[in-house]
Amino acid sequence: MDLLLLEKSLLGLFIAIVLAITISKFRGKRFKLPPGPIPVPVFGNWLQVGDDLNHRNLTDLAKKYGEIFLLRMGQRNLVVVSSPDLSKEVLHTQGVEFGSRTRNVVFDIFTGKGQDMVFTVYGEHWRKMRRIMTVPFFTNKVVQQYRGGWEDEAGRVVEDVRKKPEAATTGIVLRRRLQLMMYNNMYRIMFDRRFESEEDPLFVKLKALNGERSRLAQSFEYNYGDFIPILRPFLRGYLKICKEVKERRLQLFKDYFVDERKKLSSTKRMDNNSLKCAMDHILDAQQKGEINEDNVLYIVENINVAGNFLACPSLSTIFYLSVRKMRDSVKYVFADILCPSTFRYLPFGVGRRSCPGIILALPILSITIGRLVQNFELSPPPGQSKLDTAEKGGQFSLHILKHSTIVMKPRSF
Ligand code: HEM
Repeated sequence: MDLLLLEKSLLGLFIAIVLAITISKFRGKRFKLPPGPIPVPVFGNWLQVGDDLNHRNLTDLAKKYGEIFLLRMGQRNLVVVSSPDLSKEVLHTQGVEFGSRTRNVVFDIFTGKGQDMVFTVYGEHWRKMRRIMTVPFFTNKVVQQYRGGWEDEAGRVVEDVRKKPEAATTGIVLRRRLQLMMYNNMYRIMFDRRFESEEDPLFVKLKALNGERSRLAQSFEYNYGDFIPILRPFLRGYLKICKEVKERRLQLFKDYFVDERKKLSSTKRMDNNSLKCAMDHILDAQQKGEINEDNVLYIVENINVAGNFLACPSLSTIFYLSVRKMRDSVKYVFADILCPSTFRYLPFGVGRRSCPGIILALPILSITIGRLVQNFELSPPPGQSKLDTAEKGGQFSLHILKHSTIVMKPRSF
């Protein structure tokens, strides 16, 4: 009897799979969908792709299915394009159609359903935010105003590394110090302030909350509420933590930075000649009624995330250089990886939603990397022929797996 039941169940399952495959093939032909791996019911291709949407896996799939292919991630369709022509078509020619980022249950929480700029849909609100953020952040005037500060921060990194004798022998985890520098570069622009050291309690608090947000966005749960919405009830605990972290972060931005700046500018008369920091401009826009207080806080949130982005490329470049041991390769790295005009890689994206921070990122990276290779000879730690640059893929972005140690021997002049 049991055997009969088992037989029937297996037959039922088999028919369901054959039906799903036939329907999916039929739909594919009817709607002229791009090719792709055969999906299974409910999960689509998710089980095949796994929890790792990194570019290497996608490259392997592109080799098999071509320069445009379709992945069904649960109920979401994900089309991957990987040729210069198709990228141009998507990001440029059809730029309006593809001008919005995919909504996601986690980012809806972190951005108050798109009250920010980075994750908001392509439309009026985005246009207004991009306009309001351009003058305080993304102009040559800002670069002129802060270049000296960035040089100063890079100089302090050099000084701090020189003070550590182990840097020249067993090596140090440079990333930690670079992170402080990047926060300082961004907080100088935003609030005209900096953190004295990695131990500064406010810096520690801020870094912990930003780290928590980034960890939550990397976690497995991040996508599955959208891929398979019927699973959302299981996400309740995770979403609750996301909400708490979001509240605590925004409160921190408000209490320690935005309100402080408000107080300072009300006691100091700000005329057109005095140098304003970005927050002064943003608060002006709030006073004019163009944006509300939440939008102000979400702008701070966006810059916190974007600023953190900066620590990664500088570190990767340092990695690259310490592997190559070539000072001249700085030029090569910039031309090859970072310069968008080569179109080999698109580190800053292209088109309407491309990164406006490029205008700050490139000079900051050149100053930092230049200073470091000028002052130190970089090499892997003793006993290692190269640095461990293994990656950790995730649902949202790619990271370096381990905080690698780098030996930094001061150059004598
Ligand atoms: C090396 C450092 C950086 C890299 C590699 C980088 C990369 C990116 C990428 C790939 C995007 C998405 C582009 C797209 O969807 O086509 C983006 C968007 C964005 N980035 Fe950056 N970024 C960096 C630094 C910065 C900095 C320093 C800021 C601000 C101070 C910034 C602000 C933004 C903003 C506001 C957006 C959203 C633009 C929009 O949706 O309209 N980024 N960035």
